[in-house]
Amino acid sequence: MKEIYLDNCATTPPLAEVIETMYYTQGTFGNPSSLHAKGIEAEKQIEETRKILGQALQVSSGEIIFTSGGTEANNLAVQGLAYRNSRKGKHLVTTPIEHPSVLNAFQHLERLGFLVSYLQVDREGYVDKEHLSSLLNRETTLVSIIYVNNETGTIQEIGEIARLIKAQDPSILVHVDAVQALGKLSLASFRKFVDAFSISAHKIHGPKGAGALWLKEGVHLQPLFQGGDQEKGLRPGTENVPGIVGFGKAVQEYTGRLREKAARLQQLKDRFNRGLEEHIEFFVNGPPPEKSAPHIINLSFPGVKSEVLIRMLEDKGIYSSPGSACHSRRSQASHVLTALGLEKERIEGAVRFSFSVLNSEEDIDYAVEQVAACVKELQKLVY
Ligand SMILES: Cc1ncc(COP(=O)(O)O)c(C=O)c1O
Repeated sequence: MKEIYLDNCATTPPLAEVIETMYYTQGTFGNPSSLHAKGIEAEKQIEETRKILGQALQVSSGEIIFTSGGTEANNLAVQGLAYRNSRKGKHLVTTPIEHPSVLNAFQHLERLGFLVSYLQVDREGYVDKEHLSSLLNRETTLVSIIYVNNETGTIQEIGEIARLIKAQDPSILVHVDAVQALGKLSLASFRKFVDAFSISAHKIHGPKGAGALWLKEGVHLQPLFQGGDQEKGLRPGTENVPGIVGFGKAVQEYTGRLREKAARLQQLKDRFNRGLEEHIEFFVNGPPPEKSAPHIINLSFPGVKSEVLIRMLEDKGIYSSPGSACHSRRSQASHVLTALGLEKERIEGAVRFSFSVLNSEEDIDYAVEQVAACVKELQKLVY
C-alpha cells in the first residue's frame, strides 16, 4: 500500500544527510564541557552549528541559544522574559491561537500573579492591531505572537505588528513563535523589531529534541533551570550534540532557496485544494489557501467527523491530523478554531493536511482521490 505523509506540521521525516551527520558524532562523543580533546571536538561541533544557524537566519551566532526544541524555546522566552522584567511590570500580551507551549506558559504565569491579555482574532485568525494597541500599558513587558499558526497556516503581519508595539513603547519585548515559519518564510523581514524567536529542528527534516531561541543581544532573560554554564548559563545541561549537529545540517539543507520552496509547497497545496474542489464540497478553516502558509490547509467536510475520516484515510495509507498533533490524542475541541469563532460542527470536522517538498504530484493526486472517496462514503451514512 502507498504511504502518503501529509502531516508535516506535526513533524517531518529526517533527511538521510541529517541522520548521517548525527551518526558521525559517535566518534566525537565527548562532553562539550570537558577539557580534553574529545570535549573540545564536541564543543567545536556545537560552535560550528551555531555559525551555520547564524548565517542562515542572518543573525549573530552569539545570539542563538540551543534548546531541546520549540517547546523549550517558547517557555524560555515567555517565562524567562516575564520573570526577568517583573519589576518593571506584570502585564503580558499574547493571542488565544498560540501553540500550547506558549499558551500554557502564559497560563502558568497567570497562576503566579501575572496579568495576561489575549488579543482578539478574526475568523481567519488575524490579530486585531487596534485591540493590541489599546491593551499596551506602562505595566506591559512582553508580547508573544505566533508567526505561522500550526493549525490554520494564518501568517501574521509580524513585522508590522512588532513595529507598532515598539513605536508605542520601545521597552516592551516582542517574542515570536517561528517554529512553523522556519524554512518556509523569511525570518529576516521582522527581526528588526523583535527581541526573540523560537525555532525547532524536526519541522524542517531535522531531528526531534533540538531547537533554538534567538535572543537579541542586550536582551536578558531569567533561565528556567539551575545548573552549569552551558549556553551562557541560560540553558544549563549537557548539550545534545547529535541533535544540534543534525539541526545544523537540516538548516543547511532545507532553509535555502526559500522562494522556490514556498512556491513548490503552494503548488502542491493548490493541486490538492483544486483537486478536491472538483469532487466534493468543503470549508477551508482559516485564511483562503492562497493567503495561508504554503504548507498548511485545514478543511472541514459537511457531516464528517475528523477522527473518523483520519482513521479511514490512514487505512488507505494517508496520514493527516485533526487540527494539530497536540490535540490528536485528546478529544478536546481545537482552541485555535474555537478562538476563530467557527461553528461546533466545523471544528469537530477539521482535518489538517500539511505538505513537504518531499511530497510528489502523484502523492497529492492519490490523496485527493482517497479523501474524496472517503468523504462521500461517510456522507452517505449521514445524509
Ligand atoms: C507553532 C509551534 N510552536 C511550537 C511547537 C513545539 O515544538 P517542539 O515540538 O519542537 O517542542 C510546535 C510543534 O508542533 C509548533 O507547531
